[in-house]
Amino acid sequence: MKVAVIGGGIMGSGIAQLAAMAGHAVAIRDVGEAELGRARDAIESSLAKLCEKDRLSEAEADAARESLTFTTALDEAVGAADVVVEAVPELLEVKHQVLAEVVAAAPAGALLGTNTSQLSITSIGAALGDDASRLVGMHFFNPPVLMRLCELVRGLATADDALERAREFATGLGKTVVVCQKDSPGFITSRAYAILRLECLRMLEEGVATAEDIDTAMKLGFNFPMGPLELGDFNGLDTYLHAIESLERAHGDRFRPTVGLRNMVAAGHLGRKTGRGFYDYSEG
Ligand code: NAI
Repeated sequence: MKVAVIGGGIMGSGIAQLAAMAGHAVAIRDVGEAELGRARDAIESSLAKLCEKDRLSEAEADAARESLTFTTALDEAVGAADVVVEAVPELLEVKHQVLAEVVAAAPAGALLGTNTSQLSITSIGAALGDDASRLVGMHFFNPPVLMRLCELVRGLATADDALERAREFATGLGKTVVVCQKDSPGFITSRAYAILRLECLRMLEEGVATAEDIDTAMKLGFNFPMGPLELGDFNGLDTYLHAIESLERAHGDRFRPTVGLRNMVAAGHLGRKTGRGFYDYSEG
């Protein structure tokens, strides 16, 4: 199949690599050469690591490299695509604009996937008119090459046939698929995890335990690779606050951010990127 990935950032580069490793011809479109260079470097580094760990042969890595093209030209990327996956920033206006351009340039039968992590698929599709029937939420996880899940989300206008094509595509990439049958912000995963993380934050603020002990309890007690607080620091507490506020708008008070989290963001303690969050990174 011909696959186009729009946006070659953290997720787009990983999804493109995954599709290339599954034998598809993949075009990545981003806005400039610098962004495409970063996507190429990220893919190269991931392929090298997979080879080092014997999870991929050199021949398979070469085949994946040869299946990938990098372009700033949207027509070139999507002109003959069977599947287009959008992985641009999590802003509704940007997604509307990008998908409208994709619909104008891609074949009329192309499947449209959006990798949004929590926006409503129905509201993303609202800009597409009848073509919203081809739009499916395809929520891959970071890093897409290693994480086993793809959460599919049905928007109000999503056709059954589109959902089945998305299931086939994601299964062909080696993912286990779950389907969020009702378009509900946060879907299954982001909604459930947000509550867990909020409860960890409340325990920290109530002095029930230290950040280290809360994270250790979650890691060793539930086999999470990272504790919820350290993951918050890793992704950025401003991003976390923004996500939780949007779930609060959708689902009400149970997602209300804590005062402590708001204070940390107001003080610029955003996690690793500012050197301080739940943990102190000033020593590197
Ligand atoms: P990112 O910021 O790393 O990448 C976004 C890319 O889109 C950038 O390279 C940017 O230059 C490019 N872009 C912006 N406008 C564009 C346009 N008009 N055409 C083509 N490319 C354009 O963002 P990231 O983290 O990869 O997120 C992408 C999507 O995936 C978001 O919707 C996010 O919510 C979702 N997501 C992110 C996860 C994560 O852990 N980072 C996990 C699961 C989903």
